[in-house]
Amino acid sequence: MMIEIKNKIFWCGIKDWELRAFHGHELSTHRGSTYNSYLIKDKKTVLIDTVWSPYKEEFAEALEKNVGISNIDMIVINHIEPDHGGSLGYIMSLKPEIPIYCTKNGADIIKRHFHKDWNFVIVKTGDSVNIGEYDLVFVEMQMIHWPDSMMTYVKGAAVVLSNDAFGQHYAPYSLFNDDLDQCEIYQEAIKYYANILTPFSPLIKKKVEQVKALNLPIEMIAPSHGVIWRENPMQIVEKYYQWAQDYNEGHAVIIYDTMYEATKSMAHAIAEGLEMKGIKCKIFIASISDQSDLLTEIFKAKVLLIGSCTVNNTVLRVISALLEEVRAHKFKGKIGAGFGSFGWSGEAPKIINRLLEESGFKIPLEPLSFKYTPTAEELSQCRDFGEKLAII
Ligand code: FEO
Repeated sequence: MMIEIKNKIFWCGIKDWELRAFHGHELSTHRGSTYNSYLIKDKKTVLIDTVWSPYKEEFAEALEKNVGISNIDMIVINHIEPDHGGSLGYIMSLKPEIPIYCTKNGADIIKRHFHKDWNFVIVKTGDSVNIGEYDLVFVEMQMIHWPDSMMTYVKGAAVVLSNDAFGQHYAPYSLFNDDLDQCEIYQEAIKYYANILTPFSPLIKKKVEQVKALNLPIEMIAPSHGVIWRENPMQIVEKYYQWAQDYNEGHAVIIYDTMYEATKSMAHAIAEGLEMKGIKCKIFIASISDQSDLLTEIFKAKVLLIGSCTVNNTVLRVISALLEEVRAHKFKGKIGAGFGSFGWSGEAPKIINRLLEESGFKIPLEPLSFKYTPTAEELSQCRDFGEKLAII
């Protein structure tokens, strides 16, 4: 299917309604996703990105029907990760001489994926190519989020084809943000940022500042996943600027796992203490929660408490995995605390505190632990613990 999103610029992507996991099974996609490819029918016919390879035939058929693959003059690959570049090999097998405009890193990665030496045209930030009424201007986005990433500005149409940036894993019934439920869009946009882009926040902050300083007219931002920002497109740029700066919403999140509910009782008592001092709190059991959703919750939290009982001198396995994800995401400006019950050795809360500290969290309190089932007095100490965290 092709839908004109702006004069001569068409969406020619795929809606993957049924997708429930992305990056293998690393990231949950409760609302599916889209692979947004675009076609510009100017004097030159330009394909911007492709789609994930399972959809290559469907994608190529639509192109053939609507424009004819032999009529494509150039392909721009903003990012070669297989969800966007996966069908490139198939398209190139149909017309191998098409020039591919991409960054140097993009060409290197394409060669590693496809083992072909196609007609690459290497572009850098500020390079442009005239395609008729429009010029395409390229802006490198190195490590946002791959070494090859870039965006393409369609000068004359004031459209930014931003690839992953500003996207969401969200299969919507309309392509445009102003037709859709804003809560759903933002829930998926922040989840995308939290899970995929958080480690690159310092680069994103700088890139947003660079792009805003150019003062380009921007009437539409069309990412490669989810909705196209047609109404007030700069709203998502401003959101990214906020999210890139040690973002939090001021509340606490408690994530724990438990064997016989002693650690659960501590979690709830700590939450009471936090709330008594005015800090709102959310509680999750790690082992029955979606890990991608937990990372989103951590991204939004000011205070993260992680609880685990001790087993075999360490934390429960789901807490171990979560702590490793937290480390890798390089969250900034957050407060952390560990707690948990134990039977004899009791290492888990200390391990949690140590790993959170190594992950950049401020750890203001000693870890809290109680032997077996906490007494009423010990639960009162949990409430005190929550109150102390609340006023730090
Ligand atoms: Fe949507 Fe980095 O691929």
